[in-house]
Amino acid sequence: MEIKKVGVVGCGLMGSGIAQVCAQSGFQTVVSEINDDLLNKGMGMIKKNLSRSVEKGKLAAQEKDAILGRLKATTKMADFAGCDLVMEVVVENMELKKKIFADLDKICPPQAILASNTSCLSVMDMAMATKRPDKVLGMHFFNPVPVMKLLELVKTIASSEETVNAAKAFGKSIDKTVVVAQDLPGFVVNRLLTPYLFDAIRMLEAGVATREDIDQGMVLGCNHPMGPLTLSDFIGLDTIYFIANNMYEEFKEPKFAPPMLLKKMVAAGRLGRKSGRGFYEYK
Ligand code: 3HC
Repeated sequence: MEIKKVGVVGCGLMGSGIAQVCAQSGFQTVVSEINDDLLNKGMGMIKKNLSRSVEKGKLAAQEKDAILGRLKATTKMADFAGCDLVMEVVVENMELKKKIFADLDKICPPQAILASNTSCLSVMDMAMATKRPDKVLGMHFFNPVPVMKLLELVKTIASSEETVNAAKAFGKSIDKTVVVAQDLPGFVVNRLLTPYLFDAIRMLEAGVATREDIDQGMVLGCNHPMGPLTLSDFIGLDTIYFIANNMYEEFKEPKFAPPMLLKKMVAAGRLGRKSGRGFYEYK
């Protein structure tokens, strides 16, 4: 099936990035939020990103206008009616996600693909909120979406080959490289990444090295773009804490158990970059 018009439910950090990339790749894109304030904030992030590209000479000013012209910002779910693919990019709350999938199932054409950007929750459970589980899969993007090359597709036991192939082709058309994972918590990337981040936090807790030295070790010793504590702050400590709890609950393996320091930092509101303080301080 051909995807011409796409929808993105949620215009936060990830949703706005996904909507931007889709519109930038030539797709008519509908993006929604629950109220005008959040919608304006998300659209503001897209405009700022595009303006930066224009300033750098990487994007022509008319092209920026054309991209914005392909984006329809809305607070109405009914506006997803004509979409061939809709991606859900809301907070990691299964009940909310199931409700969105059930609503989209009623609103979208029967052949439309419905996808979730969840980083760890069961896509199968979301698919069962619809009458089209064969047309549901995970499409997991990485932050910052316009920069990161990967798109992780999550195939449930009910996703059809046709759905997976259409999503692969779509990933390619938005200039991402696709990997396919089974619908198991953490998929490929977070299943490997989270125990690594937790070990770094446990090392800090145990006084093995300073935060700077742990990060420098991985940046200069392994050529990672960011050290694990900087990356944890970048992702958001509440987000990795949520992923950890979910993965530990599912696998019962100690490597997924959230470190005590992480739990205390989340309780203290030290959520990383977004709150101004995590393992480091941000202005
Ligand atoms: N949005 C759009 N573009 C951005 C951006 C953003 N938020 N942040 C940086 N960029 C662009 C810059 O404009 C610049 O573009 P240019 O090359 O065209 O000039 C380019 O990215 C490089 O940026 P900078 O020179 O400012 O900075 P760095 O070279 O340090 O790169 C980084 C910044 C891309 C964020 C890099 O540090 C990096 O790759 N970090 C690791 C990110 C990562 O691991 N992400 C995955 C997190 S896990 C996840 O998302 C999954 C979830 O489920 C938890």
